[in-house]
Amino acid sequence: MKDAGQRRIHLADYRPFSHRITQVSLTFRLAPEATRVISKIAFEPNPGAEPGPFFLHGEELRLVGARIDGRDVTPEPAEGGITCAVPEGPFVWEAEVEISPATNTALEGLYMSNGMYCTQCEAEGFRKITYYPDRPDVMAPFDVRIESDLPVLLSNGNPVASGPGWAEWEDPWPKPAYLFALVAGDLVNHPDRFTTRSGRDVALNIWVRQGDLGKCAFGMDALKRAMVWDERVYGREYDLDVFNIVAVDDFNMGAMENKGLNIFNASAVLASPQTATDANFERIESIIAHEYFHNWTGNRITCRDWFQLCLKEGLTVFRDQQFSGDERSRAVQRINDVLALRARQFREDNGPLAHPVRPESFVEINNFYTATIYEKGAEVIGMLRRLVGDEGYARALDLYFTRHDGQAATIEDWLKVFEDATGRDLSQFRLWYSQAGTPRIGVEESHADGTYTLTLTQETPPTPGQPDKAPLLIPVAVGLLSPEGAEVVPTRVLELSQPRQSFTFEGLTARPVASILRGFSAPVIMQRKLSAEICAFLLAHDTDPFSKWEAGRALAKDLLVCRIAGKPASEAACFDALEALLRDDDLDPAFRALTLSLPGEDDLAQTLFDAGRTPDPIVIHAARRAFRGDIAARLGETLARLYDQMVTPGPYRPDAKDAGKRALRQAALGYLSLNDGGARATAQYRRADNMTEQLGALTCLLDIARADDALEAFRNQWRGDRLVMDKWFGLQASMAAPDATETVIGCLTEDDAFDWKNPNRFRSVLGGLAANAAGFHHPSGAGYRLLADWLIRLDPVNPQTTARMATAFETWRRYDADRQGMIREALERIAARPGLSRDTAEMVSRILGD
Ligand code: BES
Ligand code: ZN
Repeated sequence: MKDAGQRRIHLADYRPFSHRITQVSLTFRLAPEATRVISKIAFEPNPGAEPGPFFLHGEELRLVGARIDGRDVTPEPAEGGITCAVPEGPFVWEAEVEISPATNTALEGLYMSNGMYCTQCEAEGFRKITYYPDRPDVMAPFDVRIESDLPVLLSNGNPVASGPGWAEWEDPWPKPAYLFALVAGDLVNHPDRFTTRSGRDVALNIWVRQGDLGKCAFGMDALKRAMVWDERVYGREYDLDVFNIVAVDDFNMGAMENKGLNIFNASAVLASPQTATDANFERIESIIAHEYFHNWTGNRITCRDWFQLCLKEGLTVFRDQQFSGDERSRAVQRINDVLALRARQFREDNGPLAHPVRPESFVEINNFYTATIYEKGAEVIGMLRRLVGDEGYARALDLYFTRHDGQAATIEDWLKVFEDATGRDLSQFRLWYSQAGTPRIGVEESHADGTYTLTLTQETPPTPGQPDKAPLLIPVAVGLLSPEGAEVVPTRVLELSQPRQSFTFEGLTARPVASILRGFSAPVIMQRKLSAEICAFLLAHDTDPFSKWEAGRALAKDLLVCRIAGKPASEAACFDALEALLRDDDLDPAFRALTLSLPGEDDLAQTLFDAGRTPDPIVIHAARRAFRGDIAARLGETLARLYDQMVTPGPYRPDAKDAGKRALRQAALGYLSLNDGGARATAQYRRADNMTEQLGALTCLLDIARADDALEAFRNQWRGDRLVMDKWFGLQASMAAPDATETVIGCLTEDDAFDWKNPNRFRSVLGGLAANAAGFHHPSGAGYRLLADWLIRLDPVNPQTTARMATAFETWRRYDADRQGMIREALERIAARPGLSRDTAEMVSRILGD
C-alpha cells in the first residue's frame, strides 16, 4: 500500500521507552493565544528498555526554555519532537512552552470552545501541550496547577488547594498522558453524591454552561446507575473523591474518559424531555456508562500501545452493551447492537478500509477508532464469553483486574488470563484479533433415521493485505424446533473450527426446523437460503428473540430484493406474519417496533452487491418506499389501532418501557402518514410536549411532503438551542428527496446558523447527506462533489472530523462505472490538495486502494 510519503508505524516495531516517570508536575498559565505550560518531570532509566537517545514528543510548541536538574539545556529538534543528552541516572526535566488554544481548531490538545478552555489528548494530543513521551505505556502520577481568572478550574484526580485565580489538583493513580485533562471556564454544576460499596464518599458533578443546568438530571442518574452496576456485576469501585463530567460544544468525538474528569460532547450528556429524543436519552445513558467503565478498563489497566486499542475499547463497549441490556431490554439491546454492527462494521469489513480488530500498522492512529476496533472488538469478547461460559468469564475478568492493575497491557495478556482462568487453549480463537473480514457461513441440513445433521462451512473473503484466510473458531448457537413450533432442542453452542464441519442431533423423529446463530452468537454473514414459509414459521415460533426478529428481517429483505429486481414474489405470507406479530400484545412494543423497521437502503445495496449485482440507490430508494406504501395499505387498520393504543399516560419519562411504546407508535405513524396525508402527524406535532413526539411527527411530515411550514415553526421555536438545531439541519439533509438534495444541502450550508467549524453542525449536514443514500448517489454526481468540496474546506481546520467523514466514500466499489468514476474524481481531487492532513491523506488513499 502506498503511504503518500507518510510514515507508517508497525506493531512489530514496539520498543519500551528508555525511561520511567515517577512524577509529573504541570503549571498552566492560561491565556487564549499565549498559554504557558511549565512542566517538571522526574525521569529514571527504564531497566526493561535498551539504552537509546532520549526523545520527547512535541508538536506546535514554542519552547521558552528547558533545564535538566536545574541547568539550562538546548534540546535538538527531531521529527515530531526533540532529543536531548541526559544523565545516566535519574534526573528532573523542566520545560516551559507556549501554546495557543484560541487558534487550535483541530480540537486536539488544549483548545477553546465558547470561551472555555478544554483538552482532548487521546490518542496523541498531549504532545501539543508540552514535551513528553506521549505513549500509553509511560504511566505516572500527575499534579497540576492552573492559573486563570475563570471561575471553574478543573483537572484530573482530587482537588488539593485553590485560591483566587488558581487551583491545584493531584491524581495519585499513575496514568498515561492521553488521560490528562484540564477544563477552565465560566461553568455551573449539577452536583450529587455517591457512596461506594466500601464506603468512599464521592462528589459527582456535571459542569455545564449557565443555560444548560436543566439538562443534567438524566446524565447524573445514568452515572449513578453505572457506578452501582460496575460494583455489582464486575466488582469494580470508583477510586477518587470526585468524579467530574464537563459538557463541551465543540468536540470531535462523543466523549472521553480522562481520569476523574470525563469530557463530553454536549450532545452526549445534555438532555431534557423537551429537547432530547428517546434515542438521545438511550445514547447518553450508554456513553456515560462507557466512559465511566473505562475507569477500570482503560485507565487502571491501559493499553501498551495503540495497536491494543480494542483491549480498552472493545471491552468497554462490551461492558456498556451489557449494562444497557440489564437496564433496558436485553433482546432489544441485542438487536440494536447487531443492526449497528452490520450498518457500520460489516460495511467497513467488506470494503477498502477492512482491517483486523488488532491492526498491524497504521499511519494516523485517529483513523483507527473504527467500528471494527469498537464493535467487532466487543463481539469478539461476547464470543469468548460464550465459549468459556459466564463463570469462566467472571473468573478471567477477576484475574485480569488483579494481575494487570496499574499496567499497560496487551491482547496477549488479555487472552492469557482466559487461558489461565479456564484452562482453555485459545490459539485458534486469537485469529479473530489478527484476521480481517466477515466470515460467510454456509448451511446444509439433512434428516434420516431420527438423526438431524447440520453441516456448517466457513469462508472469509480476502481483505486488503490479507488474501488468504485461515478457518476461525466460531461459536454458533443453535436450537431446534419441531414442525409444530415447539422447541425440541434448546440452545446449544456448536464450535465451528474447520472449513466444513458436521454436527448431529439424535432422537428427532420429525425433521426439525433449525434456528441458527441465536443471539447473533458470532459476527458472521449466514448464507442460508430460507423459504418465505420457514421465515414466517421462525418469526412466529422461535424462542430466541434475536432469531425471531432476524427471520422477519430476512423475509422482508428477500421481498425487497425481488421488488428491486422487478421479480414477482408472493408477499401475502409476509404481510400476514407481520400483522400477527403486531397484534400480539404479549410482545414488547419496542420489539414490535423493530420488526416494523425495514432493512435500510445501504444494507440493501450491500446485499445486492454481495449477490453479484450492481445496486442503484435511486431504484432501491423507490422500491423501499413503494413497499412501505403497500405495508401501510395492507396493515392500515392494525397500525391505526396500535397508534391509538400506544399512548404513554402521565408526564414524559425516558425509561425503556415508555420509550418502547413511543417507538412502536412512531413506527406506526410512519406508515399511517403515507395513507392519511399527514393528518395524524400534523395533530401530533401540534400536541407534542416532548422532542421524541415532536421530531417524530416532523419526520413523517417531511417524508410525505416538503413541510416548509413545520420546518419554519420548528426553527423559530428552537433557534436558541444548538442541539435541537442540529436535528433540524440533520433531518433535512438526510431526508431530502434525491432530485432536491443538492438544493437542500446548498440552502443548509448557506444558512446563518451553519457553523461549519463545529463538528456537530458539520456532521448534521454533511453526515446527513452521506446518510441520504439516494441523494448522495444522485446520478448527477452533485452529492459527491458537494461532500468533496466541504471535506477540502474542513481539512486544514479539523483533520480528524474530515477523515472520519471521508468514509462516506468507502462503499464506492459497489456502484456502476459512472458513479465509480465520479467518486474516484472526488477522492483524487481531495488527495491532490497541497498540505492535506495526514489523517485525510491516509483515509483517501486507503479508500482508493492504492
Ligand atoms: N476513548 C474514546 C474517545 C476517543 C476516541 C478519544 C477517539 C480520542 C479519539 C471514548 O471512550 C469513546 O470510545 N467514545 C465513543 C463513545 C462510546 C460510547 C463508544 C465516542 O466518542 O464515540
Ligand atoms: Zn471508549
